[in-house]
Amino acid sequence: MKLLILNGPNLNLLGTREPDIYGKEGFESYLETLRGQFSTIQLEYYQSNVEGEIINKLHQVGFTYDGIILNAGAYTHTSIAIGDAIKAITTPVVEVHLSNVFARESYRHESFLTPVCKGCISGFGLHSYHLAIQSFLI
Ligand code: DQA
Repeated sequence: MKLLILNGPNLNLLGTREPDIYGKEGFESYLETLRGQFSTIQLEYYQSNVEGEIINKLHQVGFTYDGIILNAGAYTHTSIAIGDAIKAITTPVVEVHLSNVFARESYRHESFLTPVCKGCISGFGLHSYHLAIQSFLI
């Protein structure tokens, strides 16, 4: 099984960015934990702060991979274009968030992605990614 974890804007700063909300661990080190936990899965990783690059990556892998785990960061709440890209591809996408977006500011309650994703996991810190990978195994 081949999965892509696709992180959007500001998630390259995990570990230092607002640690009270997002935790103190960077994504690269957590990725090694995930690869150890799911050793039979081919886990690819891509991060970009640029909306168009996220869309290009969805197009690039979205017809061949078994699944995409997408944390689009703030683009979740603004990007019709990323929603359209998810609709355009055939690979299922699971939306993830470290924080519980529904317990935060009201502008984070709307997602242009949830309606076109297979599901959404929000609020479990980095463990949200673990749960998203598991969702592809059930
Ligand atoms: C986030 C939640 C978004 O609202 C925010 O803009 C982020 C991170 C999360 O993982 O909790 O950048 O996607």
